[in-house]
Amino acid sequence: MTDNSSPIPLSKPYFPKELRRTIAADIDAILASGRLMNGPWAKRFEDAFAALTKREHAVSVNTCTTALQIALSYAGVSNKEVLVPAGSFVTDVSAVKFAGGRPVLVDMNPQTLALDLDSLESKLTSDTRAIIWVHLVGMIASDYRAILEFADRHDLFLIEDAAHAHGAEIDGLPAGSFGNASAFSFYPTKILTSGTGGMLTTDDPELARFAREMRVFGKDEGTGEIVHYGNDWFLDEIRACVGAHHMSVLGEQVTHRRALAEAYAAGLANQPGLRLLPIPTGCAPSWYQYPIFLMDDIDRAALITALKDKHGIEAKGIYKPTHEEQIFKELDDGTLKVTEDVLHRSLCLPMHANLSPAEIDGICRALVSELRRQVG
Ligand SMILES: Cc1ncc(COP(=O)(O)O)c(C=O)c1O
Repeated sequence: MTDNSSPIPLSKPYFPKELRRTIAADIDAILASGRLMNGPWAKRFEDAFAALTKREHAVSVNTCTTALQIALSYAGVSNKEVLVPAGSFVTDVSAVKFAGGRPVLVDMNPQTLALDLDSLESKLTSDTRAIIWVHLVGMIASDYRAILEFADRHDLFLIEDAAHAHGAEIDGLPAGSFGNASAFSFYPTKILTSGTGGMLTTDDPELARFAREMRVFGKDEGTGEIVHYGNDWFLDEIRACVGAHHMSVLGEQVTHRRALAEAYAAGLANQPGLRLLPIPTGCAPSWYQYPIFLMDDIDRAALITALKDKHGIEAKGIYKPTHEEQIFKELDDGTLKVTEDVLHRSLCLPMHANLSPAEIDGICRALVSELRRQVG
């Protein structure tokens, strides 16, 4: 793997030829029908998603960030505090701001990559109204019961951000089934994509109705009057068609990703310079990303460059800690040290269903050779 003319990408949407043909034919029929919104494809996608997440309701929207914002508005976070992981994608924080709330960053549990319970307790105030809980890289935290119990005990509205976790499970319970509301992303890098898009799942019929009204300008479903400050946030029929069809290969993709994760774990076990993520019994990640964690003596930037330039392999950190982003620096209260340590050490390797275990072996060999070079 020394040819870097077409590097192995970190992610690539999985659309086998037969599926592409079916989608193209159905999009042609949608365009011919003239019905581009609130049609059978959105319904089909939503029904499939409610079944996947074992929820009463699924409401399709234009992005995951919108689903988060709608859930936060419904929870009444305006002028209230919302506990958000410092180690996640920036729009978990932006969505709180859009809904008029005050984001408070919570530190990370390095074993689960999710909310640290001590940090959660320490950030709780009488103004706290909600929590956003993220399944980073597609792994549901093994201490999920304690997170659910914390939200329950303090009467907090719990929103699950399952943007990385299509098809992930813990103890047989699917991502998207926890808390008051869950949000999924169908952004192009995601395991399941509709081009782009989002889904809100919930068992609360009032929230489902609020979401359906918010996505069409805030229009009351019964009277047609504008009753909320809504927006043009629905998922059109073309993207809903792509997403509904993509669900047919979700199981296949997740199974394949799990096999690739096993190949990585086998190829990287006991190698110098890195630590692997422990996967507790009962936890079945979706493996949106495959992260490893580098030891102190490894220069991550140099490693990323060497992998790309010498081996044609893309790699990157999970995310920058949110409080290190220019616009969110004021959210740094000096307590987010584990998040900083874990994310600065993190390195995501290529993970998508177009890869084969043999390619993973090649990536492992290239990585190990570069790590050995650095540790001497
Ligand atoms: C954890 C997480 N939450 C939310 C989002 C936002 O998703 P969308 O682009 O669909 O709004 C992303 C997107 O990458 C994400 O990774």
